[in-house]
Amino acid sequence: MATLKKSKKSAKPKITIKKKVVKATKKGKKMSGEVFYPSKQVLEEARLKDWDKLAKSAGKDLKGFWEAEANELEWFSKWKKVLDDSKKPFFKWFTGAKVNIVHNAIDRHLKTHRKNQLALIWESEDGKEHRNFSYYAMNREVTRMANIIKSMGIKKGERVTIYMGRVPEIVFAMLACAKIGAIHSVVFGGFSVDSLAGRIEDSKSKLVITCDGSFQNGKIVQLKSIVDESLKRCPSVENVVVVKRVNNEVNMEEGRDHWYHNLCEQPIAEGKCETEQMDSEDPLFILYTSGSTGKPKAILHTHGGYMVGTYATLKYCFDIRDDDRWWCTADPGWITGHSYLVYGPMINGATSFMFEGGPAFPEPNRWWQCIERYGITIFYTAPTAIRGLMRFGDSWPQKHDLSSLRLLGTVGEPINPEAWKWYHRVIGDNKLPIIDTWWQTETGAFQIAPLPVTPLKPGSGTKPFFGQEAEIVDENGKPVADETEGYLVLKNPWPSMLRTIYGDDERYVTQYWSKHPGKYTTGDSAKRDKDGYFWIIGRVDDVIKVSGHRLGTAEVESALVSHPAVAEAAAIGLPHDIKGQAIYTFVLLRAGKVASEELAEELRQHVATHMGPIARPEEVRFVDKLPKTRSGKIMRRVLKARAQGLPEGDISTLEE
Ligand code: PRX
Repeated sequence: MATLKKSKKSAKPKITIKKKVVKATKKGKKMSGEVFYPSKQVLEEARLKDWDKLAKSAGKDLKGFWEAEANELEWFSKWKKVLDDSKKPFFKWFTGAKVNIVHNAIDRHLKTHRKNQLALIWESEDGKEHRNFSYYAMNREVTRMANIIKSMGIKKGERVTIYMGRVPEIVFAMLACAKIGAIHSVVFGGFSVDSLAGRIEDSKSKLVITCDGSFQNGKIVQLKSIVDESLKRCPSVENVVVVKRVNNEVNMEEGRDHWYHNLCEQPIAEGKCETEQMDSEDPLFILYTSGSTGKPKAILHTHGGYMVGTYATLKYCFDIRDDDRWWCTADPGWITGHSYLVYGPMINGATSFMFEGGPAFPEPNRWWQCIERYGITIFYTAPTAIRGLMRFGDSWPQKHDLSSLRLLGTVGEPINPEAWKWYHRVIGDNKLPIIDTWWQTETGAFQIAPLPVTPLKPGSGTKPFFGQEAEIVDENGKPVADETEGYLVLKNPWPSMLRTIYGDDERYVTQYWSKHPGKYTTGDSAKRDKDGYFWIIGRVDDVIKVSGHRLGTAEVESALVSHPAVAEAAAIGLPHDIKGQAIYTFVLLRAGKVASEELAEELRQHVATHMGPIARPEEVRFVDKLPKTRSGKIMRRVLKARAQGLPEGDISTLEE
């Protein structure tokens, strides 16, 4: 059995591999529902076999657990305190320490055998281009990009907006910012003018790093034109660095816009670039995400805590190793890409694969082809992708040898048992564990997730990660009985937690710490079953998850009312077979405007142009009135019920 030796200073377990296989997971009381137990091979291979024991010790000594994890990484100087909770809810981790996440993601590996190991493997959408970067090469690329960013006058603490497709340069750009202490703000390359401009404006970035364009299903997304259009509204931007990817004609503004390949040729790009020694609590990045109301919020993460959180969660939940070929299909523009495509795997010294394209272009075997071609060992994706691929049948994956896989993962929205079972049976050959990870942009790293040895129930992320306690509470914050739906809250602080909403401490407190004082409000509803397993039901606020992408109803509504025909609009998310949720909108036209199918299509297109294609409404319905409370708030709950033909519930606050 794995021995969990407590060191004098902490609850850190010593992970040892012993030959005898523990059957602890099958022993003991019978679990309810449909349970998938780990295979003998999984149990044998797992470095940590006893989840409960470590969970118990971390539960007793949260700081000790995290301190031991932090001690596995390199710090320029160590912390005075592991956790400073004196100014709750403004928690601080590893205070007084000096560190840089890039030192742990790259620099420290250069002193070991990992120097020559692949950090990143990349394949283009059309499959014709392949680029590989060892940790040594990654350092060279990141250093060069860092020198260029510095030459643009960017200093520690200043923001840089990154708006690119899935090309290696996006990874270089993120790491280069972190290396010099600049704060990156990555905007998903599928967003359009309004979303990009709003994020640049809010962050007051002086520099934008972009591409001439990106490929999407064989077509070109005109990234540079979208940047040009956005910059008309963003006076803070002084320079734009443009990576050539698609070779389209783009406008290059004299003095402002610079080709990356030209900059690389210049002396400023050459030479060493020291990795900046940052305070543990110094900002690493901001990432905008949709909230229940108003504009997207800039979630702020820091060097020290985020580094330890992404490192430890990936190490335990996926048992990741040097010889793994890890593939997280997320775009770097979302938190999953930040934590588990870029930072987590590299801090762990693994090899990450990045694919420029999508799952089904030109044919639905594109991903399976990549798994076979590169010998991917761990595959981490979203339920929407699984549902989408499942619909093409078993024959596509069966054309490929997927035997290199040893673990599967999922994230972003609840996975329906049917998709879980297909994933398990067809991709996982009826034996691979599926690591269902629940977390958020705000949490930075997994909060509820199994280990490979955890008995699994399709649709449940199982139990909270080491050191975390989750609870289901009612409207008044009282814990509810097992099997009862309620609000999901987190009880303990964790290192990779958001520190604030950039520039808006007050909103941070009201949004996350006011509804259930002392506990972190997740915005999700969930249930816990009798075995202590958590089942996420969905968002309780006005956030919609479309194909796992987080969008706010308020953003869609404001895009709609920016159209001259629209007086008022409401957006809701309704269940969708593939996307999980789809956007439905209700529009009240201005006087004199006439409803028509052409206008509905124009409005759908209008939202896509302003926000990005992912926000394109499934349906635009014209109405004479919107249900509102007496104080004028749109009752989306009532719209949802009406649209689905369900009871409208309590409508006593409805305006006459
Ligand atoms: O509703 C939960 C859902 O995604 C939300 C967070 O979205 P975002 O910040 O975009 O981060 C997504 C990737 C971490 C959560 O509040 N969610 C995320 N993972 C799961 C999930 N719902 C169910 N199961 C999951 N594994």
